[in-house]
Amino acid sequence: MINQVEPNISSEDMESVSRYMQSGSWITEHKLTKDLEDKVATYVDRKYAVAVPNGTIAIYLALIASGIRDGHKVAVPNITMIATINAIIWAGAEPVIVDVDNTLCMSLDSLKKVPEINAVIFVPLNGRVGSGLEIQEYCKDKDIVLIEDSAHALGSSYLNQKCGSLGSLSIFSFTPHKIITMGQGGMVLSDDENLYQKLIDIKTFNREKDKSDVHKGFGLNFKITDLQSSLGLSQLSKLEEFIKMKKNLHRQYSNNLNDKYLKSFNEYETPWFIDFYCISENQREELYLYLKQKNIETRFSYPSLSSQSYLQNIEKTDLTFSEKVSNNILWLPSSTNLSREDVEYVSSAVNNFLEN
Ligand SMILES: Cc1ncc(COP(=O)(O)O)c(C=O)c1O
Repeated sequence: MINQVEPNISSEDMESVSRYMQSGSWITEHKLTKDLEDKVATYVDRKYAVAVPNGTIAIYLALIASGIRDGHKVAVPNITMIATINAIIWAGAEPVIVDVDNTLCMSLDSLKKVPEINAVIFVPLNGRVGSGLEIQEYCKDKDIVLIEDSAHALGSSYLNQKCGSLGSLSIFSFTPHKIITMGQGGMVLSDDENLYQKLIDIKTFNREKDKSDVHKGFGLNFKITDLQSSLGLSQLSKLEEFIKMKKNLHRQYSNNLNDKYLKSFNEYETPWFIDFYCISENQREELYLYLKQKNIETRFSYPSLSSQSYLQNIEKTDLTFSEKVSNNILWLPSSTNLSREDVEYVSSAVNNFLEN
């Protein structure tokens, strides 16, 4: 079976974890996590980074640290993973679902139609950066909090500015199908010392000082482990290699498949998944089943948020474009472990399907 995606774990990764386990450390969060936070912050040119157990918690903490709460409205794009909107609901705020443009990222025109919003979550979906910079300007002008959900986009840029550096707070996720992984894991990044301190307070029981059992107020435990960070550091050291592999993968598929089905990426963007645009929902279903018979696993891209039954009462703008396009996209095998032969095999299976 050719998997749609899988983690890329090398012998160096295993050695890094094994070295850590043999070091006699306490397994919990300590120096390696700090090192990982510093390295990711430097990579995306942010002052502060806070590691947390996953990307969902990272978005939740970014909202809470920004003061978003009950009665606040937060704009979210209609095409994103469910965690983006659920974190808003978890924070007690009201999501407003906004349409996307043809990059599948939030549409600025659609955002402008939402009155009185307190925050926007911009998602550089699949590594494409869409109107991120323009939305940053808009939020600055209107004094709206901008949070960047960059779960897919470590290694992508808005021209000269790295994903992970847009708005006041950005987040990453490190699950096994992301650009780099540490099993589970997330990170919140910021340039603002106040926000950083708030994140640390909420993350570490709001202690008066390190190791104190006197608390300034309510706080929880969102620490990770150096065991995870030993893998995260080793994966991060291969980030440039992974970026190159993802770009090569997209290039190879582009050479093999008709342009009309594949959307391009700018050269400063890193493709996360290969998104194949079918001409209809029916065609997508048939292609999915055809490829499955050939031992090729694919995956339907995210259904629109507005199609989820439990989100029917959420405020929304006109979502015509996102509701149509989200039903047509199939994610082809997109792993950095794929060989040239694997991609040739998948491409010719797709072409055979289209010819018949
Ligand atoms: C866009 C987006 N945001 C947030 C998340 C949540 O991250 P995690 O799975 O680490 O909680 C994901 C996970 O895939 C995602 O794709």
